[in-house]
Amino acid sequence: MADTNTLKFGDHDYPVMSGSVGPQVVDIRKLYSETGMFTYDPGFTSTASCESALTYIDGDEGVLLHRGYPIGQLAEQSSFMEVSYLLLNGELPSKGELDEFTHTITRHTMLHEQLATFYRGFRRDAHPMAIMCGVVGALSAFYHDSTDINDPRQRMIASHRLIAKMPTIAAMAYKYSVGQPFLYPDNSLSYTGNFLRMTFGVPAEPYHVNPIVERALDRIFILHADHEQNASTSTVRLAGSSGANPFACIAAGIACLWGPAHGGANEAALNMLREIGTPDRIPEFIARAKDKNDPFRLMGFGHRVYKNYDPRATVMQKTVREVFDALKVNDPVFEVALQLEHMALNDPYFIEKKLFPNVDFYSGVILSAIGFPTTMFTALFALARTVGWVAQWNEMISDPAQKIGRPRQLYTGPTQRDYVEIGKR
Ligand code: SDX
Repeated sequence: MADTNTLKFGDHDYPVMSGSVGPQVVDIRKLYSETGMFTYDPGFTSTASCESALTYIDGDEGVLLHRGYPIGQLAEQSSFMEVSYLLLNGELPSKGELDEFTHTITRHTMLHEQLATFYRGFRRDAHPMAIMCGVVGALSAFYHDSTDINDPRQRMIASHRLIAKMPTIAAMAYKYSVGQPFLYPDNSLSYTGNFLRMTFGVPAEPYHVNPIVERALDRIFILHADHEQNASTSTVRLAGSSGANPFACIAAGIACLWGPAHGGANEAALNMLREIGTPDRIPEFIARAKDKNDPFRLMGFGHRVYKNYDPRATVMQKTVREVFDALKVNDPVFEVALQLEHMALNDPYFIEKKLFPNVDFYSGVILSAIGFPTTMFTALFALARTVGWVAQWNEMISDPAQKIGRPRQLYTGPTQRDYVEIGKR
């Protein structure tokens, strides 16, 4: 939507566009052709890469909306399947629409049988995210009937397949790491209950899904579903802009999410809390986080957008108490987390730099209490974020303004010079 007002640069006026809410943007698509100059924005701190109607974040107010619905309401009242439908289709489903969507996803949870042998190629101690990158990328070798990105029907089938198969792939990565047999999906269970059974069940006996754990994990999936143009979503969009198939694009997103500055922070945050061990050691770690000469950062703290608080962390902290009470867990790591949060939020350094707990600070505490090893935490983040990635990918493909992403640069290397043969160097 272009507004009447413009931004003047030299002899040229650039239109200022407004969305439905949030910062306006300056349309600089003609800047280079008219001025011969690029903009310069490493890390894209001031750059809108696209138009999107999926998720809105107000970092100062701690607001996160999915298609207009606040994350707190969705976490409390909705389900991951319903939020997945909402992100993909734009509106909350009727009961019939939700039942049909859930049935469709349920029917896609099985993997091609040959993919099970794919796991045999990995070491047993391979990181689950390495396996996720490999297996998800390999899906494009099995599902050729849903790789034509110009066919909306194939795009939706590929999207359903990815949402449905991620829990199976993640559970198989865990089973492979502990040397237990894979369990096939059980279509009589919920999306999240099925994942819990495939992960923690064994063929030798029935597995009973704990409804409190099922609800807590489903809520964690909701909190991780989508988050505007974060690094891994931008990776999926950039990969998709070349016309790459959806399975390859999601594999690229998984690779990006793995980084400790992004989705890998939940694993790093719990490892940090365990290393701190007891509340009396917290000041030592806070001092290290403030020391410019020490690369250590408080994992699970800070965010590019949230400069007040991450509304997902608020829901996550509440969920920790529910799970700990339900499972009668008294892991001291939660106490360390609460005291670290309190001390950091009262420290001038963190207040001045607006560093607050993010979604990754508490998620590991809950996942550990449920029984997941820390190496599985980011795989669960990828499982949940897949719906956001495929929704953003579909939105990008359908955007008439979409073209292949190809940023430019500020070149600071040598200007042209002639080759010197080795005898004269
Ligand atoms: C996710 O983008 C998303 O939406 C991501 C995500 C999603 O749902 O997709 O929300 C998920 O990735 C959450 C973030 C998880 N990562 C971590 O918890 C890792 C620790 N956090 C930091 O690495 C950092 O805060 C980032 C990466 C999250 C944000 O980095 P920015 O916006 O580039 O900020 P910055 O690195 O420029 O830091 C600003 C200042 C710096 O100090 P100065 O150079 O100005 O002196 O704050 C300091 C940093 O040193 N700082 C920290 C810190 N984070 C930033 N100091 C100590 N501990 C920290 N955690």
